[in-house]
Amino acid sequence: MNSEVVYLNGQFLPPEQAQISVFDRGFLFADSVYEVIPFYQGVGFRLQEHLQRLAYSLDAIGLQAEQDWPVLLNELVRRNGGGNRSVYLQISRGSEGRRRFASEGKLQPTVFACTTPIRHIYDEGADRIQGYNVILTDDLRWHRCDIKSTGLLANLLMQQQAHRAGADEALLVRDGVLSEGTSSNLFVVRDGVIHTPRLSAGILGGTTRALILELATDAGIPCQETDLRPEALATADEVWISSSTRGVVPVTRIDGQPVADGQKGPLWQHMFALFTRFQHRLMTGEA
Ligand code: PDD
Repeated sequence: MNSEVVYLNGQFLPPEQAQISVFDRGFLFADSVYEVIPFYQGVGFRLQEHLQRLAYSLDAIGLQAEQDWPVLLNELVRRNGGGNRSVYLQISRGSEGRRRFASEGKLQPTVFACTTPIRHIYDEGADRIQGYNVILTDDLRWHRCDIKSTGLLANLLMQQQAHRAGADEALLVRDGVLSEGTSSNLFVVRDGVIHTPRLSAGILGGTTRALILELATDAGIPCQETDLRPEALATADEVWISSSTRGVVPVTRIDGQPVADGQKGPLWQHMFALFTRFQHRLMTGEA
């Protein structure tokens, strides 16, 4: 049983006391958006960037929910003892007491947040990061993957497919072009250049993706946002995926075949070191 305190509509509660209506539009229609934000040693990692994306998602589905999010989320983390946790924040359009497609008027949004303990990847160091084994599969999702919607059934089905194949993640292909992972962004390294799919390829604008591009640019590592075909993977020097809670992770096998020599690559080691330094600067107030 989860003993952490959750937040629901203005109250901090034990999870068993947090209840929403069966007519909540988040439950019935996935009419809701979310964020997953890591906190290390009680401090939010790229909190402002997550909140900017939240504002983008809310705006994209025409949902207004004004709150002092940093105050709310920091308080939730504090009440759960600080430390290393990911915060899940979901905002749904709320309930009108019955099920109907079109919602009439302005409803009171449902705001829910909870936390889960996570590993402090930057404290543990690069040696503890395991290379990922991934599969390639058709991207089954809708056309608005830029919205961080809780409509994740296609993502779950593709992730199940990966797990059944003994893999950690699936890389998705849409119209012959790589998009991203089921819950991560994708990077392909060749000849010292970092390539990643364009945002206009119908992917989520990952906060970790943006940080990789920012840190690489600052360090003078060339980056390109471009179309990537699955064939590019066969000749890649390195492949990575990224997400908030996993950071940047090397992919060492794709569909059972090793990526290059099947080891964690040198540019990944460099990028992980840049992330660790960034995290350190965040804690000392320099970033
Ligand atoms: N997922 N692409 C998709 C489809 C995602 O679901 C995620 C994150 C990302 C990476 O975004 P970020 O770097 O901002 O975490 C890319 C979160 C972690 C989740 O659903 O749990």
